[in-house]
Amino acid sequence: MNILLASAEVAPFAKAGGLADVTSALPIQWKKYGQNPIVIMPKYGFLDEKKWDIKPTYLTLNVPMGYETEFAHLWRGMLPDADVPVYFIEFNEYFSREGIYGDPNEYFDNDRRFIFFSRAIFEVAKAIDFTPDIIHAHDFHTAFAMAFLKTHYRDDIRFAKTAGVYTIHNLAYQGKFNPFRVMEFTGFGQEQFSEGSWFEHGGVVNSMKTGIMFADKLTTVSPNYSREIRTPYYGEGLQDELNFRGPDLLGILNGVQYDRWNPEIDENIYKKYSADTISDKEINKQNFLEEYGLAGGNGPDIPLIGMVARLTEQKGFDLIESKLEGCIAGGDFRFVLLGTGDKKYIDYFNYIKAKYPSSAYINIGYDESLAHKIIACSDYLLVPSRFEPCGLTQMYALKYGTIPIVRQTGGLADTVSEYIRDSGLGTGFVFLHYDRDDFAYALKRSLSIYKIGPHWDTVRRNAMAMDFSSERSALEYLNVFKWALEKVR
Ligand code: ADP
Ligand code: GLC
Repeated sequence: MNILLASAEVAPFAKAGGLADVTSALPIQWKKYGQNPIVIMPKYGFLDEKKWDIKPTYLTLNVPMGYETEFAHLWRGMLPDADVPVYFIEFNEYFSREGIYGDPNEYFDNDRRFIFFSRAIFEVAKAIDFTPDIIHAHDFHTAFAMAFLKTHYRDDIRFAKTAGVYTIHNLAYQGKFNPFRVMEFTGFGQEQFSEGSWFEHGGVVNSMKTGIMFADKLTTVSPNYSREIRTPYYGEGLQDELNFRGPDLLGILNGVQYDRWNPEIDENIYKKYSADTISDKEINKQNFLEEYGLAGGNGPDIPLIGMVARLTEQKGFDLIESKLEGCIAGGDFRFVLLGTGDKKYIDYFNYIKAKYPSSAYINIGYDESLAHKIIACSDYLLVPSRFEPCGLTQMYALKYGTIPIVRQTGGLADTVSEYIRDSGLGTGFVFLHYDRDDFAYALKRSLSIYKIGPHWDTVRRNAMAMDFSSERSALEYLNVFKWALEKVR
C-alpha cells in the first residue's frame, strides 16, 4: 500500500507530545510489513537540517490558496534508522518559526498555516509522482486534507482511488477558525459555509469536525476513548458528529517503540536492567537522587514519584496541587517533574521547587533524555488526567517497572489495571472519579505497597510483562486502511 501520512508533528524532528511519537512509529512499522509509506510535515524554523540530513529536492509546489497560488519548496530526509522518506514543506512565511503551534500563545495565522499544509500534501504527491492508496491525517492540523480529497482532488486521476483516514489524537484541540477568513483560502468560498454544513460548528469553521465528516474511516488512539467521545462529557461538543460517524470510527490503542523505550537497552539511564535484574532499578534511583540534589543526607528511604507531561489542564494538575505540598512536606515521597506549558502551572511548580529543593526536582523544559531517566528512576509515575485519549508515558513506565498511578479514563483505563493484593494481579493504581479524595486514596493505596514483599515485586513484574508494541498497532491501522479502501473501490 502507498501510504501518505501527514502530520504537524513527527518525532524526532518536531514534537510537542505523543502525536509525534505515534506518527514516526507507525510508518517505520508499516515499512517493516512491506508497505510503502511516506511522511509529510512542515519545515519548521527550528529544524536542524544538518543534524537530520535534510536536503532540498529542488522541486517547487504550486499550492492553491483561494484565489492565489503559493509557491513552496520541498525538502527531503529520512526517519532515523528507517527506510522511510520524510518530505518537509518549506514556506518560510508560515513555518520558519521557533514554535510548532505558537509559543506561548497560538500563532494568529494557524488557520492559514495548517490549511495551507493540508492542501500542500496533495501537491507533494504530484511533484514526487506518488499515488497514495491512503492519505492518513492526524488531528485538526491536517483535517482539511480529508475535505480536499473528496472535493478539489476528486477528479484528479492520481487520487481517484485514494481513501482518507483521519486519526483523532485529542479532541480538545479542534482548530476553530473565523469563517470569513478561512472559507476563502480553503477554496470552498463563503457559500459553502452555513449552519449544519460539514465545516461548521457553533457558528465557526471547525477543522476537527471537517475531518470527522469527510474522512472515509476514523480512528482514535484507544478503544476506551473511542467510546467516551460519543458522550457529552468527553465529546467536546462533537459527540453528535462522532455518533453519526460511529460505524466508521474505531479505537486503536497506541503502540510503544520498545527499541527506544526499554530499560535493557536504554543509553539514557545510569544502569540498564530487566525484570530479572530489577534490583538495578534501585541503583538508577539512587544515582538520580544524587545527581538532582534529592539524596538529602541519611533521611528515610521514601518513594520517588515522577511525572513527564505537558503542563495543561488535561493532565490533572489541579488534583496534584491539592495534595502535593502536604505529601512532600510530610515526607510521604519525593517528587520529580519534567514539563512545560501553561504559566499558572509553571508558577506553581517553581514555587514547589523553591520551597522544597531537597524533596522536589522540577525541570520546566523539554528534555528527551531526562524523560527517559525520570521514567526509569522513579518508583511511581503519576498520570491523573482529567481526560487522556491514550497516553504514552504510563506505557513507558510499565516497561521500566515504574508503577503508574492513573485516572480510569481514555487509554489509561485500557493500559493500567489496579493491583489487587489478594490475587496478585494488576499493574498499577487506578481511580475513577476526578476528585481529590479518590485521588488521595489511590496515592495511599500505591504507597502502602512500597517495598512491601511480595507485593512490590509482583506488581513490578506484572507491569514489566505488559506488551503494547507499535508492531500491533501498526497492523491494526493496516486493517483499517483495507477497510477504508473497500469504501472507495
Ligand atoms: P500528550 O500527547 O497528551 O502530551 P502522551 O503521554 O501521549 O501525552 O505523550 C507525551 C510524550 O511527550 C511522551 O513521549 C513524553 O515522554 C513526551 N514529553 C512530554 N513532555 C516532555 C518534556 N517536557 N520533555 C521531554 N519529553 C516530554
Ligand atoms: C494526544 C493525547 C495523548 C495521546 C497522544 C498520541 O496528544 O493527549 O493521550 O497519547 O495524542 O496519540
